[in-house]
Amino acid sequence: MSSELDALLRENRLFPPSEDLIKASNIQKWMERYGINDYDQLIMRAQDDPEWFWDELARELEWFQPYTDVLKWDPPHAEWFSGGKFNITYNALDRHVKTWRKNKVAYIWEGESGQVVKLTYHDLYVRVNQMANALRSLGVGKGDRVSIYLPMILELPVAMLACAKIGAVHSVVFSGFWAKAFQERANDAQVKVAITVDGFYRRGKVIPLKENVDEVLDGIPSLKHLIVVQHAGCPVQMKSGRDFWWDDITQEQEKECAAEVMDSEDPLFILYTSGTTGKPKGVVHIHGGYAVGTYTTLKFVFDIKDEDIWWCAADIGWITGHSYIVYAPLIMGATSVMYEGAPNYPQPDRLWKMIEDYGVNVFYTAPTTIRMFMKYGEKWPQKHDLTSLRLLGSVGEPINPEAWIWYHKHIGNRQCPIMDTWWQTETGMHLITPLPITSLKPGSTVKPFPTVKADVVDDAGESITEGGGHLVIKTPWPSMFRTLYHDQERYVEAYWSRFPGLYLSGDVARVDQDGYFWIQGREDDVLNVAGHRISTAEVESALVSHVKVAEAAVVGKPDQIKGEEIFSYVTLKEGYNPSPKLKHHLREHVRKEIGPVASPAYIGFVEDLPKTRSGKIMRRVIKAKVKGEDVGDITTLANPEAVEGLDHAL
Ligand code: PRX
Repeated sequence: MSSELDALLRENRLFPPSEDLIKASNIQKWMERYGINDYDQLIMRAQDDPEWFWDELARELEWFQPYTDVLKWDPPHAEWFSGGKFNITYNALDRHVKTWRKNKVAYIWEGESGQVVKLTYHDLYVRVNQMANALRSLGVGKGDRVSIYLPMILELPVAMLACAKIGAVHSVVFSGFWAKAFQERANDAQVKVAITVDGFYRRGKVIPLKENVDEVLDGIPSLKHLIVVQHAGCPVQMKSGRDFWWDDITQEQEKECAAEVMDSEDPLFILYTSGTTGKPKGVVHIHGGYAVGTYTTLKFVFDIKDEDIWWCAADIGWITGHSYIVYAPLIMGATSVMYEGAPNYPQPDRLWKMIEDYGVNVFYTAPTTIRMFMKYGEKWPQKHDLTSLRLLGSVGEPINPEAWIWYHKHIGNRQCPIMDTWWQTETGMHLITPLPITSLKPGSTVKPFPTVKADVVDDAGESITEGGGHLVIKTPWPSMFRTLYHDQERYVEAYWSRFPGLYLSGDVARVDQDGYFWIQGREDDVLNVAGHRISTAEVESALVSHVKVAEAAVVGKPDQIKGEEIFSYVTLKEGYNPSPKLKHHLREHVRKEIGPVASPAYIGFVEDLPKTRSGKIMRRVIKAKVKGEDVGDITTLANPEAVEGLDHAL
């Protein structure tokens, strides 16, 4: 393996797609319609006239009233398809039940314990309508916010689509977060109704979500009602007048529900993501442009055909699931696999078994998952027939060439191109990505999607071709976020002020001599742990909220499987002493404040943290220490002896 890899890196070998794949691809057929001969011509034409490109694709969806302008761009404010009347759920469901797709399977859902449920477009349509009517009966209307705190069960997409159908704004909270995180997000969004579950399965254990939620409900003053899905059958307490069982509130409802006629720019959802402060950012996406952008990228990047089985093995609690498990595949009329549980449960071949069982054609996952399966070895995928696969995908963090090659060889049988897609919660859709007609280089996300102008710039905002720099996007795209929820100032400040008119992604990247992009990671204090975005400040504030902790510093340490691990150093308040028990308590505390994904892999107790004279914690120094690198110049520190203290941390 490693000699193969060395050769690969030396040669900078290109992996071209097969002629058959190119010929049959959606993008090739689309290009032929417009007399476009190849990828370079496509990029030129789309960059010359982005409005032509997006107008053509937007017309493939159904508008209640046509838009008057494709784009109005007053940086940093974009309006796409303005004047258009639209509803994303109408496009995901109502449009299909009028056609032969009515009885096509929309979701094949598999529970962790192996039960399977198949929902057709018509089944889903009815469930969504009944839920939408139920929400209306609770007084939820256009513009109201609804928090959805559900695991990977079918009620999750149903609830999202139901909100969107009546114009309510959903805010999904990842079920792996703990109730405090749910409370913080529900309060920020001022939600009227929340939807949760009695419990769900993870590695055979029941996680009692409703019981956790009960601890924080009184701390969400805007909340009027809680809807509870019965799933794990664990005992829960229901508060009369406030709490309703999902089945009780939906089953008597009408099976039809008229879609709210929305403006193209009306908000669709808020999804919280980590920024550089402890306060999560409420990223706002809208109906029209988000639908067009996600639909187009799924169609062209993952090349989904009507007969395909598509599996995006992410969690719907993150943007990947919003865009590519819920909205885009349904707008396309695709059949998706959805899985409730852990990927290596009960055995490390769960995913490969499911690919075989359902004949999955296109499979999308994260590098951290691939690295975990590399560790288990190729004997697990070898037990299964994976020849149904045509294309693979990767997202969430840089994929190291070794993992890329393993994925290509052992999952893709050396036949399947890997679409390494770069994008973010804020971008809504893939922005820098291969297409099935481009040649690949392992570890590179290839080139910007048609119409997207991405660049790498230095501190002065000048394009650079040597070395790494700030990854920026120079032109608007339809599914870009429109603002941060009730924090327009932070939207402008965090993304658009460093280089006015350019979108600052927060990533460092490099472009090679062929124009291929190589993403190197975040440039801010945001960690990427197993593909999850976690801010150091958020973990620090969780640690210092413990009664015994005075200060905390959190940094990332590179990890072979997870990408990064969370390392933390804490100082204790007077009168408290370090102990293994306290370490355990602090870990538990972070789990409860944020969730297991944020729990530090390492906690060290120190007397003092290295600080500048103005009192700012020097994370740079701590980071260097953790990585075993030279700490560099520490003469500006107020307390250089603290650096040595890190070595003796308990
Ligand atoms: O650092 C980049 C990394 O994930 C960040 C976005 O995280 P989030 O908003 O949670 O969305 C993840 C799913 C889209 C980016 O700033 N990232 C995402 N995709 C890639 C990536 N890094 C390298 N290669 C990718 N393909």
